Amino acid sequence: MRKLIMKTERLTNQETQRAGDLLKAGEVVAFPTETVYGLGADATNDEAVKKVFIAKGRPSDNPLIMTVADIAQLDPFVTISDMAQLLMAHFWPGSLTIILPIKPGKVSMLVTGGLQTVAFRLPDNDVARAVIRAAGVPIVGPSANTSGKPSPTTAAHVWHDMQGKIAGIVDDGPTQIGVESTVIDMSATTPTILRPGAVTQQQLEAVLNMPVVDATSTKSVASNVTPKAPGMKYRHYAPDKNVVMFDRLDALDLKNELQKNDVVMAQEPTLSAMQLSLDQSWSLGETLESATEQLFSGLRFYDDEIQVATIYVEKMSPIGLGKAYNNRLAKSAGNQEFSV
Ligand code: TXA
Ligand code: MG
Repeated sequence: MRKLIMKTERLTNQETQRAGDLLKAGEVVAFPTETVYGLGADATNDEAVKKVFIAKGRPSDNPLIMTVADIAQLDPFVTISDMAQLLMAHFWPGSLTIILPIKPGKVSMLVTGGLQTVAFRLPDNDVARAVIRAAGVPIVGPSANTSGKPSPTTAAHVWHDMQGKIAGIVDDGPTQIGVESTVIDMSATTPTILRPGAVTQQQLEAVLNMPVVDATSTKSVASNVTPKAPGMKYRHYAPDKNVVMFDRLDALDLKNELQKNDVVMAQEPTLSAMQLSLDQSWSLGETLESATEQLFSGLRFYDDEIQVATIYVEKMSPIGLGKAYNNRLAKSAGNQEFSV
């Protein structure tokens, strides 16, 4: 058992003032968003920010998102270009994180990881915004998982990873989207997607009325350079168990190869075709949205089941949100694919 070093308060989604008070006091509090749960701390307080890196076990060169309750909170830190303003008007509050150049000296090096840019997000969740307003400052908001593990989509997931390490967790039930926000870099000449999410390349291009580069196929970067998207060089979303992705066209071949301790996460039609027992299968529902919402929950569940050997997970069509789903799945699987 992990040693308890701090009592973690379980807060309801009504107790946003208490969460704000803890944040003001320099403590770390997990909060809900529409994508995944985040780990909040006063972004203007270096001691508080340090605690986030420690609780997550996160490398210090991986910068943090600043999470705000309204656009005015950005003013002290960045100059907002017309294009960035367009994106905010269309997609905020929502699942888009926007990277902007900082006003020199205005954001702590701890938050930026030494970069001249900072990532901002305004979540589409009333409780998140109430917590930030109660804190009175922007809060950093990395996903509230232990570094390298799947992001938490319930307060119970956060409790599993952070209990004893942070001051509180605000429980607002399961998150709606289930994977992290789209990250777009607006600090370069060409807008560039650094992480796919619920806001798609097509939607971004339509609003900006110009091409947007999708850099998410970029291979991992050598560890001796500071990469453009620092998070890209680390292993991500990875359970301890062996994870392998599969195509639904191969479902029956997979069924023939399945060992007693293997499990399958797939959509309803695929599971019906495979005729698996309930304890060997995790339903991803019937839609792309439900699959995305369930992905990390299923991976986390089977990761804790001692007898499970390999987790096979169905891929989605790589369109729209399917790109974000497949991106997280491929990382969880270390790119391993089932083939016949
Ligand atoms: O949906 C989300 O965005 C969630 C919720 C809690 O808001 N947060 C989240 O934060 O996923 P995090 O820290 O787990 O992921 C942020 C990603 C990391 O890969 C980080 O490297 C990248 O954004 N990032 C942050 N600041 C950056 C910057 N200035 N330049 C490039 N990449 C940056
Ligand atoms: Mg994360």
